[in-house]
Amino acid sequence: MSVPRVAVVYYSATGNVASMAHALACGASEAGAEVIIRRVAETALDEAISANPRWQQFVESSADEIATLDDLAWADGLAFGTPTRFGGPASQLKAFLDTTGGLWFSGDLASKVCTSFTTASTAHGGLESTILALNNHFYHWGSIIVPLGYVDPHVARVTGNPYGASWVSRSGTPPDDACLEACRLQGVRLAQVAGRLYGND
Ligand SMILES: Cc1cc2nc3c(=O)[nH]c(=O)nc-3n(C[C@H](O)[C@H](O)[C@H](O)COP(=O)(O)O)c2cc1C
Repeated sequence: MSVPRVAVVYYSATGNVASMAHALACGASEAGAEVIIRRVAETALDEAISANPRWQQFVESSADEIATLDDLAWADGLAFGTPTRFGGPASQLKAFLDTTGGLWFSGDLASKVCTSFTTASTAHGGLESTILALNNHFYHWGSIIVPLGYVDPHVARVTGNPYGASWVSRSGTPPDDACLEACRLQGVRLAQVAGRLYGND
């Protein structure tokens, strides 16, 4: 049987993206993929983190391993998650993506299937612009971009963002079940497409 490899790589400050990443990973796993979850390294100053109790709590409690370039090279399918920061991806994820020059140059990233997801505090605060900005990296890599689309009625009827799973957190509310279901569906879709293209026997 063909078993695709999926890496879910994210940045999260206060835990919302982390919850989404784990739901997406569950979907990919249910669809038969071998899955790893990685968070990118925190780069913010300690005083910025400690000024926000939720940020401090997440930094202290996260058990996910730190992402490396080997994780990207290993995977057939890649899902990237970030909070929306001023309408675009967080600098912590961007910093990690900016270390992929060698992989890009070798052509390794051109065979990857990529998808992305995000959360913002407001519905019009940049969900789509963040996903589109993340996807620019994939165009440069030459990767195959898989959007969430409206392929499942749940997205069309309930969550409604075909660009990628997204969550409006308002005053810090964690993702609800409907959002996590959209994440799960995105993981299923990523694993299915990666499996069709690059599954390892
Ligand atoms: C510096 C900063 C910039 C942000 N920029 C935006 C923004 O442009 N639009 C928006 O709706 N929310 C914005 N937010 C809110 C976060 O995107 C939101 O709280 C998100 O759910 C946090 O995800 P996390 O818990 O995974 O860190 C910003 C938050 C911070 C700290």
